[in-house]
Amino acid sequence: MNNMSLLQVAVSLEQEIVAHRRHLHQYPELGFQEFITSEYVAEYLEQLGLQVQRGVAGTGVVALLETGQPGPCIAVRADMDALPLREQTGLPYASRHEGAMHACGHDGHMAMALGAARMLTGLRRELAGTVKFIFQPAEEMLGGARHMIDAGVLESPRVDGIIGLHLWPDLPTGQFGVKAGTIMASMDHVDIMVHGRAGHGAAPHQGVDAIIAAAQVLSALQVLISRESDPADAVVLSMGSIHGGSIPNIIADQVEIRGTVRAVNAATRERMRTRVTELAQAVAAGMNARADVRYEFGYPPTVNDAKWVRYAEEALRGLYGEEAIHPLAHSQMTSEDMAYYMEHVPGAFLLIGTGGEGKGKFPLHHPELAIDEKALHYGAAYLAQFVRNYLRE
Ligand code: NI
Repeated sequence: MNNMSLLQVAVSLEQEIVAHRRHLHQYPELGFQEFITSEYVAEYLEQLGLQVQRGVAGTGVVALLETGQPGPCIAVRADMDALPLREQTGLPYASRHEGAMHACGHDGHMAMALGAARMLTGLRRELAGTVKFIFQPAEEMLGGARHMIDAGVLESPRVDGIIGLHLWPDLPTGQFGVKAGTIMASMDHVDIMVHGRAGHGAAPHQGVDAIIAAAQVLSALQVLISRESDPADAVVLSMGSIHGGSIPNIIADQVEIRGTVRAVNAATRERMRTRVTELAQAVAAGMNARADVRYEFGYPPTVNDAKWVRYAEEALRGLYGEEAIHPLAHSQMTSEDMAYYMEHVPGAFLLIGTGGEGKGKFPLHHPELAIDEKALHYGAAYLAQFVRNYLRE
């Protein structure tokens, strides 16, 4: 093994890694319900001889690879949950669970981490320290990472840093999206209830039209992006849901607007919370209506440590050469609960291209998402190489 590059080892494991992914893909489970999934993962890690803990924060799995030599502890993180979508890929290994699909690539994240675990098991004698594999539940919306941290996953042994990958159809296979600092945005939730007063559609002056008020609120809010935000500071406000009224000739007394706000820095996040609330209330009041605003902070921005990004680049360079490194010009406006771990410990979270052979046609969270599975053994090799470098220093 010593004389073999990890890429060669990964190539020899390619079929096994793809088989993991396809199996997991067929049995997708939603957040905190990853029972079949976590059992599969735990069993495989036990077979490798790792020390496995099941049932962490519900369905989470933590596995320790001890080298027997004192040294640092590095965590490799994968997420296990699927999305509530009906798969429409028509693939032979498509989801067998009606209404659930691995459409965010978490099946691939698990397969890469399992592949890395196998590779590192073979290398344990040349390493010093501990590898902690974290398979967390519920990345989508529910913040499984926070539950894992509360369950003590960053302690005993104390984690010195953490790495992870996200499949990325926008990048071609063989490329890794890399960025120091913020790589993904925060994700905050807005819920605005506009209250008017019901009335007959023929006598609007006797009611307060919540639909008209909500329409004004909706368009006013975009001004916070176009006129109040620094054009160089990325921030997004998307209101994806609006509900109100029941009958065409009745003035609606209530409209609910819900949406998401994404930002890459903390001050902007705070400012948006204040201004969305103020503006919605003021505009509604101007229409004789009232807006009740509920604004909740969700995932924080995912911030990569500069030194850990350099380690990541070294690992990539060693395996694939400079051309595998794709520097990202700006942060993605998607969010990740990986952010929570990286509030506590330094880390590197990279995007891994899966857009080879026409596979980048559909974005993540799409019912026809297909990935280039060749990327998976590249990802596994990268994870293993990073760990190998880190635990040798
Ligand atoms: Ni995801």
